[in-house]
Amino acid sequence: MDRKKYEIEINSAKSLEQLNELEIKYLGRNGEINKLLSTIKDIPDEEKREYGQKVNLLKTEIKKYIEIKKLIVSKQKSEVFFDKTMPGKAYPKGSLHIVSLAIEEITKIFEKIGFIRVSYPEVDWEYGAFESLNMPSGHPARDDVETSFIDVPAHSTLGKMVLTPHTSNGQNREMKRVKVPPIRMINISKCYRPNWDPTHTPMFYQFEGLCVDKNITIANLKGTLDYFAEKYFGIGTKTRLRPHHFQFTEPSFEVDISCNNCQGTGIIGHPQGGQNQKGHPKGVRCKVCKSGWLELGGTGMVHPNVLKEGGISSAEFSGWAFGFGIERVIMMKYGLDDIRNYYSGDIRFLEQF
Ligand code: DAH
Repeated sequence: MDRKKYEIEINSAKSLEQLNELEIKYLGRNGEINKLLSTIKDIPDEEKREYGQKVNLLKTEIKKYIEIKKLIVSKQKSEVFFDKTMPGKAYPKGSLHIVSLAIEEITKIFEKIGFIRVSYPEVDWEYGAFESLNMPSGHPARDDVETSFIDVPAHSTLGKMVLTPHTSNGQNREMKRVKVPPIRMINISKCYRPNWDPTHTPMFYQFEGLCVDKNITIANLKGTLDYFAEKYFGIGTKTRLRPHHFQFTEPSFEVDISCNNCQGTGIIGHPQGGQNQKGHPKGVRCKVCKSGWLELGGTGMVHPNVLKEGGISSAEFSGWAFGFGIERVIMMKYGLDDIRNYYSGDIRFLEQF
């Protein structure tokens, strides 16, 4: 066999497929090497040995040659196909938790109008959670705020240790920190109450607003609530105050916001519009709110006793406060119905936000 011929052929092969074909052509069962070996019977006896050795040597050479060329071709192939400009593999990105996002958003809304974000302890004494808020021990209003107590000896003046049941515990601390108003506080923190149902988890977040200055009135409170409602829930969202009772505010209110699903009407309009026989707009009752309004949380004008306990003269200063649940406002904004999903760790739920 012509050595040059196989050298040239193997060398000029450009793909693994071509090399595989050459491998069959030379080394296969009906290949050229076997053909050479089959002619050994026609070789004179004294030359047979030498002939056999030569063919076997050739076989090893061709094998090696093809092997090396295969390596070269596969290497060249990967070099040719490596495109440095191709975009990399996209790995799934993590994202902030729905509650962290809301905390960021709410903080920004209040910072824009001069409020300062603070964070006060989640583990506090009864004094911070109750006494300083005009809720003396034994007062029945304390029962409204179910509380988890910590099993350690009580403090001689501050009372038992508690997992704070509301962010109102920041009010007295903030008054004592600032000393002389103005105070514009937004306190966002974890709170704890022993409840577990579609609208309550034992750990949840609240945000507490506190504004104390000269001549602060309910008008300032209403204006701030309207501002927050429009920024967080969307343009056109209205607020209303309903009389209520809290120990730490006088007067006290519950705040509602107008439902964005039905534009505060409580009715999802009939496609043809018009009125029914009773003169009410035609349509079906809104499933989100049923009445046109959704309850946001508690608020009111800071009670003089609370100002006094914080070292602030109620003759000179007045203020308002509110406390709303973060999970609750998220629920209202997105129309969610089970707060427990927030903490289920189910990525399919969390990825949506
Ligand atoms: N602390 C109350 C609660 O958790 C909410 C609240 C009501 C806070 C009225 C306030 C307020 O600051 O003025 O139920």
